[in-house]
Amino acid sequence: MNSLFITFEGPEGAGKTTIINMIAEELRKRGVNFISTREPGGIRIAESIRNIILNTENIEMDERTEALLYAAARRQHLAEKVIPALEEGKIVLCDRFVDSSLAYQGVGRGIGIDEIYQINQFAINGLMPNLTIYFDLDPKVGLERVHKSEEREVNRLDLEELDFHIKVQSGYAEIMKREPERFKRVDASNSIEDVYNDTLQVILEKIGEI
Ligand code: TMP
Repeated sequence: MNSLFITFEGPEGAGKTTIINMIAEELRKRGVNFISTREPGGIRIAESIRNIILNTENIEMDERTEALLYAAARRQHLAEKVIPALEEGKIVLCDRFVDSSLAYQGVGRGIGIDEIYQINQFAINGLMPNLTIYFDLDPKVGLERVHKSEEREVNRLDLEELDFHIKVQSGYAEIMKREPERFKRVDASNSIEDVYNDTLQVILEKIGEI
C-alpha cells in the first residue's frame, strides 16, 4: 500500500491553493495516483458546513460551535473521501486539516490546543498526516494579499483583526515544536515559482520514501 496523507497549512493568503493546483498538475503528468481535496469541504455535506462556518453573516457564532462544526466537517470528509482514497493506496493532498483547528480555534480563539485536540480525536480517530507542509508567511502580508485579490472570497475568519492572525501564527509555531518530524516549512514570501519548486521537492522526497 503506497498511500500517503499530505496536508498543507498556513495563514490566509499564503498561496496554498494556487500551489496545490500546480502540484496536482505536475503529479498528474507524472502519473501519480492521487487526489486533491480541501477542508472544510471537499464533499457535499462538508461544503454545506463550510458555508455555515464561513458565512460573513454568522457573526453570532459561538467559538466552540465553530470548533465543533470544523470537526464535524472533518469527520464526514475523512469518512467519505480521505479514508477510502488512502485504502485504495492513493496519495491524498489536503488543503488544511486538524492543525488548522489547533491553531485557529485552539490559539486564535483561545480555546486551548489540548481541548481542540481532544474534540478532534473523536473526529479523526488517530488518523494523522504523514507529512504537513507549512507555508510560512507574515500574517500581515497574507491578509494584505487576501484583501487585494479580486478572485479570492473574503470569509468570516479573514475579517478578524491582525491580532487574531498573529495568535494563529504562534499556534502553528507551538504545534510545529511538538511534532517537528511531521512538518516541513516552505518560505511563502518567495515568488510562486520558488514556493512551488520547494513544495514539489518536499513532496517528491516523501513519495520517494514509500
Ligand atoms: P481556506 O481559506 O484555506 O479555504 O480556509 C477557510 C478558513 O477556515 C480559513 O480562515 C482557516 C479556517 N479554518 C479554521 O479556522 N479551522 C479549521 O479547522 C480549518 C480547516 C480552517
